[in-house]
Amino acid sequence: IKHTCLKDLVRPFIELIDSLRLLGIDKDLNLPSIAVVGDQSSGKSSVLEALSGVALPRGSGIVTRCPLEIKLRKKKGKWEGKISYAGHSETFYDPSQVDKLVREAQNALAGDGVGICHDLITLDISSPDVCDLTLIDLPGITRVPVKGQPDDIGDQIRSLILKYITKKETINLVVVPCNVDIATTEALRMAQEVDPHGSRTLAILTKPDLIDKGAEEDVLKIVQGKVIPLSKGYIIVRCRGQKDINDMISLTEAMQVERDFFKSHTYFSSLLNEDKATTECLGRKLTGELVDHIKKSLPRLTDQVQSLLSQLQAELKTYYKGPPLDHKMMGPFLSQIIIEFSDRINELGRTGDAKHKN
Ligand code: GDP
Ligand code: NA
Ligand code: MG
Repeated sequence: IKHTCLKDLVRPFIELIDSLRLLGIDKDLNLPSIAVVGDQSSGKSSVLEALSGVALPRGSGIVTRCPLEIKLRKKKGKWEGKISYAGHSETFYDPSQVDKLVREAQNALAGDGVGICHDLITLDISSPDVCDLTLIDLPGITRVPVKGQPDDIGDQIRSLILKYITKKETINLVVVPCNVDIATTEALRMAQEVDPHGSRTLAILTKPDLIDKGAEEDVLKIVQGKVIPLSKGYIIVRCRGQKDINDMISLTEAMQVERDFFKSHTYFSSLLNEDKATTECLGRKLTGELVDHIKKSLPRLTDQVQSLLSQLQAELKTYYKGPPLDHKMMGPFLSQIIIEFSDRINELGRTGDAKHKN
């Protein structure tokens, strides 16, 4: 699993984040997470797998049934994964196991059927080939319950999604397939509700290869923000479809296929230059958002460091002076300590309390 292009393009950002982390900044600074919101089968898991290089459970119908937090951490050495949920934790070294382990986790938490569960599954992944991002995969919005689902499944899912996309530290990716009407998309409405200014909402259009002939120009207008303007705009991506999966197209190959798809597209090729197409571009944008977030947080961090410093300086003043650096002063220094000590012994004998007066 390699993300060479993404890695090369965002290298300066990644290095910045790495060096900040070396300073320990990630302990004091909550780096933003990226959550996906969209209808069932709109391509949420596919977008996240393209971004992370990690093959996630995906397909038609309800596949994602619990919130899944994927913490990607760039680290030298071999690929390592750790899945944790409900007190269970397992480390593994084969990326192709992710799908199976996540499905097992979902079955354990939400049952074997089509139910959902609010409990979080955490997947920690460290590898030299990932960006430092935290991604959250969520169940898709549904309206009509399928057999085996409770009547209020739609409301259950909506409240689960809201719990994540409401957080100010979260960048929301609204995932909409090109072949549905974006104006009536509930996902967009939900995102706009929790982020009215659109300062942390990015729209992702998926499945551009499935657009009906003749509808390309309409999609182009949407991507260019001419239909529903969004302050952070749109990105169009092409992920692996079911056929690509059956043909065992790897994620690396899929990136090449995606690039070729846009490059040779009659209507969409111009979007490459406008930075509005490919998952590679999406990754770059998101890393940029991360950097912006860090920049915005730095003044607050400086304030925190300043106040900690003056706190410690004040504390330091309450301690005894240390031994003098000048050897000639050692005698007076020691006799002073002995005098203070004997004063305290006397005080103790007199009053039973040896508290020194400073
Ligand atoms: P989710 O339910 O929103 O997480 O959707 P998934 O990621 O599971 O995708 C649903 C189906 O759409 C899967 O079979 C994917 O392979 C397929 N899919 C996703 N993106 C694309 C795309 O860009 N093109 C095509 N042809 N299929 C896609
Ligand atoms: Na699905
Ligand atoms: Mg999914």
